[in-house]
Amino acid sequence: MVNEYEIKKQICDIGKRIYNRGMVASNDGNISVKLSDNEFLCTPTGVSKGFMTPEYICKVDAEGKVIQANPGFKPSSEIKMHMRVYRERPDVNSVVHAHPLYATSFAIAGIPLTEPIMPEAVIALGCVPIAEYGTPSTEEIPDAVSKYLQHYDAVLLANHGALSFSDSLLNAYHKMESVEFYAQLLYQSKMLGGPKQLSDAQVQRLYEIRRQFGMKGKHPSDLCPNYKAGKPSCHGCGGSGSEKKCADADTVALITKLVLEQLGK
Ligand code: 13P
Repeated sequence: MVNEYEIKKQICDIGKRIYNRGMVASNDGNISVKLSDNEFLCTPTGVSKGFMTPEYICKVDAEGKVIQANPGFKPSSEIKMHMRVYRERPDVNSVVHAHPLYATSFAIAGIPLTEPIMPEAVIALGCVPIAEYGTPSTEEIPDAVSKYLQHYDAVLLANHGALSFSDSLLNAYHKMESVEFYAQLLYQSKMLGGPKQLSDAQVQRLYEIRRQFGMKGKHPSDLCPNYKAGKPSCHGCGGSGSEKKCADADTVALITKLVLEQLGK
């Protein structure tokens, strides 16, 4: 078991990484780690997460109330959002919130990351929805995020940023990196005339690889109602957690066939 001081140091290291990679500006972003059902470490509010030392890190209970904090430090103003993730996802041991440039731009433009454009993003994330806007530090953000928690390991926060969570601090951070890289590739390929999406069959093969690897966490590939009914999952529906309706696999196949017939192919 890694001791608490070591975990505090790891939180500071991840804080440096998100700051140095430009995933947060100024004092933005926050990070937390679960120690036990009623003990969590979290970054303090209002400091640059790129320049923290272990003494900055606060300890809170499952309600987000302070158990220990050094003078001058108070837990993140977004602690309610972190606690909602832990409450509703017992498999999660760490939560990362940041404002990465490209992912946040998509969150501001109201465009979820649903285009299957590269294997790694399809396997690691599936698609990334946008949780409805909420005022920072209130219950509005936890409430908005809640409906996506059983279907995804990362969500965009409308007009705000991104949230990722996983079984470890490093994995939660890696999800954030993957979201940002995916958003950047999507943006840049749109600038180059539009991405060429992977085909449905290619996406199904990637989903199958994910299942074979037994990858942890929640992913649309396992949650799509089509898949549950023994049909191929449709990419982008995100199970019932998304506003976007799940396209029926038979209907999609029929429409594709009719269109190809019309084109004489
Ligand atoms: P805290 O410094 O209170 O964690 O807030 C930063 C932030 O990014 C709020 O969304």
